[in-house]
Amino acid sequence: MIIAIDGPAGSGKSTAAKRLAERLGFTYLDSGAMYRAFTWKACSADVDFGDEEGLFKLLNETNIRIDCTADGSEVFVDGVNVTKEIRQPSITKNIHHVSSLEFVRKKMVELQRDFVRGKDIVVEGRDMCTVVFPDADKKIYMDADIKERAKRRHSELKTFNDKSDINNVVGDLSQRDRRDSTRKFAPLRRVPDAFYLDTTNLDAEEVVNILIKEIEKDQ
Ligand code: DC
Repeated sequence: MIIAIDGPAGSGKSTAAKRLAERLGFTYLDSGAMYRAFTWKACSADVDFGDEEGLFKLLNETNIRIDCTADGSEVFVDGVNVTKEIRQPSITKNIHHVSSLEFVRKKMVELQRDFVRGKDIVVEGRDMCTVVFPDADKKIYMDADIKERAKRRHSELKTFNDKSDINNVVGDLSQRDRRDSTRKFAPLRRVPDAFYLDTTNLDAEEVVNILIKEIEKDQ
């Protein structure tokens, strides 16, 4: 069974997907971690983000692996554990350079489809329902008010010692939303058959309870 969740940054989809997978005894895939992993690789290999040929070559030399353990998932690039590094604000800032490239998306889609084979899984990202798993058993789109999303992102940034002011976070999120939803390949979009959930006034537990009820309704 595949449960696919899409939504913008800060909509609460990562926390919800993780907890939902735990409650159902499913595996969890954070597809954004793959884009983060390749962005990390491009930064550490010092390839210019404008150099598409260089990025293409680098991508073909890069091995990205996600391991699911009882404590969550770990991300490896060429055998190096980069789970923490890929969450750094410097990576978040540069992902759009690679996530907008068609050849990068093609490779990630292949990796994501390989990963889910034979598993009961909750997958989350931006194009899970639209492109990667259009036949998912359950499609979900999560959203929240930009101010609430910024508040969530702001407290996350504090854990990286990032002292960004909340207004800057609102600005960064709006820019990311715009880039994710207007890019040419696999833009963030809500499909009509996805269950829509606005999480602005909900905590993580309430979100998961609503999702479980919604999934059970179809069984
Ligand atoms: O979910 P996240 O914030 O870790 O994702 C980081 C970026 O990766 C996001 O701004 C857009 C990109 N992404 C994507 O293009 N497609 C996905 N399926 C997941 C993430």
